[in-house]
Amino acid sequence: MRTSLKSHGCGELRAEHDGQEVTLAGWVHRRRDHGSLIFIDLRDHDGIAQVVFNPKEAEEAHRVASDVRNEYVIQVKGRVARRPPGTENRNMATGEIEVHAQSATLLSPSKTPPFYINEETEVDDLLRLHYRYLDLRRERMHRNIVFRHKVVQFIRNFLSERGFVEVETPILIKSTPEGARDYLVPSRVNPGRFYALPQSPQQLKQLLMVAGFERYFQIARCFRDEDLRADRQPEFTQLDIEMSFIDEEDMLKLMEDLHTAMVETLRPDLRLTKPFPRLAYAEAMRRFGSDKPDLRYGMELVDVSDLLAESEFSVFRDTLAAGGVVRGICVPGGAGLSRRQIDELTEFVKTVGGKGLVSIGLTGEGPVEKLTADDFHSPVHRYLRLEEVRAIAVRIGAGRGDLLIIVADQEGRASQALDGLRREMARRLNLIDEGFLAFCFITDFPLVEWNEAEERWDAVHHPFTSPKEEDVPLMDSDPGRVRARAYDLVCNGWEIAGGSIRIHRRDVQEKMFSLLRIAPAEAQERFGHMLEAFEYGAPPHGGIATGLDRTVMLLAGERDIREVIAFPKTKTAADPLFGAPSTVSEAQLKELHIALRPEASISKESS
Ligand code: AMO
Ligand code: AMP
Repeated sequence: MRTSLKSHGCGELRAEHDGQEVTLAGWVHRRRDHGSLIFIDLRDHDGIAQVVFNPKEAEEAHRVASDVRNEYVIQVKGRVARRPPGTENRNMATGEIEVHAQSATLLSPSKTPPFYINEETEVDDLLRLHYRYLDLRRERMHRNIVFRHKVVQFIRNFLSERGFVEVETPILIKSTPEGARDYLVPSRVNPGRFYALPQSPQQLKQLLMVAGFERYFQIARCFRDEDLRADRQPEFTQLDIEMSFIDEEDMLKLMEDLHTAMVETLRPDLRLTKPFPRLAYAEAMRRFGSDKPDLRYGMELVDVSDLLAESEFSVFRDTLAAGGVVRGICVPGGAGLSRRQIDELTEFVKTVGGKGLVSIGLTGEGPVEKLTADDFHSPVHRYLRLEEVRAIAVRIGAGRGDLLIIVADQEGRASQALDGLRREMARRLNLIDEGFLAFCFITDFPLVEWNEAEERWDAVHHPFTSPKEEDVPLMDSDPGRVRARAYDLVCNGWEIAGGSIRIHRRDVQEKMFSLLRIAPAEAQERFGHMLEAFEYGAPPHGGIATGLDRTVMLLAGERDIREVIAFPKTKTAADPLFGAPSTVSEAQLKELHIALRPEASISKESS
């Protein structure tokens, strides 16, 4: 990369530059002083080049090189030369050459960084975020951020070529119905009133459909005040899409084409299945206990309730009598797990919502139908009948050497526990194929779910999601069975995207509001602008939003979205670099017509 201060990027130099005079500028990545010769690995945005300082060739440059330390910024003029035979470095893009310095200038010194920039070492998260500008100098982080740019650029090109128009939508707006808590911004000029930062551009993109843009997209910033995890940040980025005159098939095809092309272009070394498998929600829950199954490995859930109705083991019998289920998975080759490892799993299952588990290790030789009482071991061996164990093993498809893990509980909790166990066992036993991106679509979600605490129906997705036409009558008789025209894209066990075909008929929308017990007055207050817009010729439309941070994380092979966000927040939604959130002056509060409650003032002093 040529600028006034440099002729080449450090990482650009190759054997073909042999003999050329170059000017480089960058950071001292590593410095080795061999008494007479000094070697400096000079790093810039493009990569690293080795510079040799020989006091016999350039005395002044050698003096500069003696005084610099790691992370100093220097400029070097010199001549590119092939490295002496036997000293080439095949692990370095520039490893065939080195630069013989003729002169060197110190541009900027550096304090000793609080952690190594030139090594991939474990560094405390808070320290990394406090010195994020140093953390981002590290090779992996630098590569991730550049990679993210490539993903975004790919998406923009892909969609633009297909006639999509990128439209920016406001950040200061009104509460949206995604269901998380809002971030609020007080209005100075409208005392006592607040904007809500958008949880997504949902309503705005639907209004753009009414406005006649048939293909919209946006790389959109979204804000949700919710509990944070490895795949959640308070502000995050969506690839937001909406289209008119479509049905589910158009959207799933677009998503499949986009993600396939993206992987093939940006990560050609990774494999994926085409077409993406599709699972109805009910099937995903039955087979994997999750609506975001990881399809990179097997260990599917199998129901064995009917085999255990008469069990002598009271946990099984009582759970079934109370309307629960008994389900299990087969861990291939897991019979060798030690007592201690099984105890660890029993503790683990409690962290993912389970109450306990029964393990049955199968040993010996031959078909499991011929199992003897000595051929299985279990902490509850004496309560298990041989015929029961044989039947369970056959049903789950287990063989000798495998481990059965059985959980008894109410259906929801059993699913949650076995989903957690499945993921944990795959990780522990290295069953995960890291070279594979297992995409799948989940369809036919329920439209609403029962909110036990508030004794009412909640929208599973949001109130604008359309029910399936044939299920509309069920909205009156059996709302829990209504299927939505909603779909998710899942990859490697993470939810990448969610969307739906929207309601565009006023009568269905009113039915939906009444099902959610949103009274007409409240519907008017919250969504009046939408209802009004829909009276002016709303086209049938639908859309989707992908979590861009999650997509980049998966494609970059990372496990936390913070590794692909330049300036993320901590798990407590703080930014240690800026010290945000921070207190503000009395004058600012007054201007905003805000008085802090006593408890807020206490936290102000303690922070
Ligand atoms: P949804 O709420 O499912 O749908 O969000 C879409 C996708 O956004 C990502 N995501 C997040 N990523 C990081 N941090 C978060 N806190 C976070 N929350 C969500 C997920 C998710 O799949 N307006 C609808 C979309 C539509 O109907 O078109 C919406 O926002 O990857
Ligand atoms: P306890 O009676 O709690 O000591 O449990 C006896 C055995 O049953 C232990 O191995 C537990 O892990 C197991 N267990 C407890 N609850 C369940 C459950 N809901 N499903 C399967 N196994 C369980």
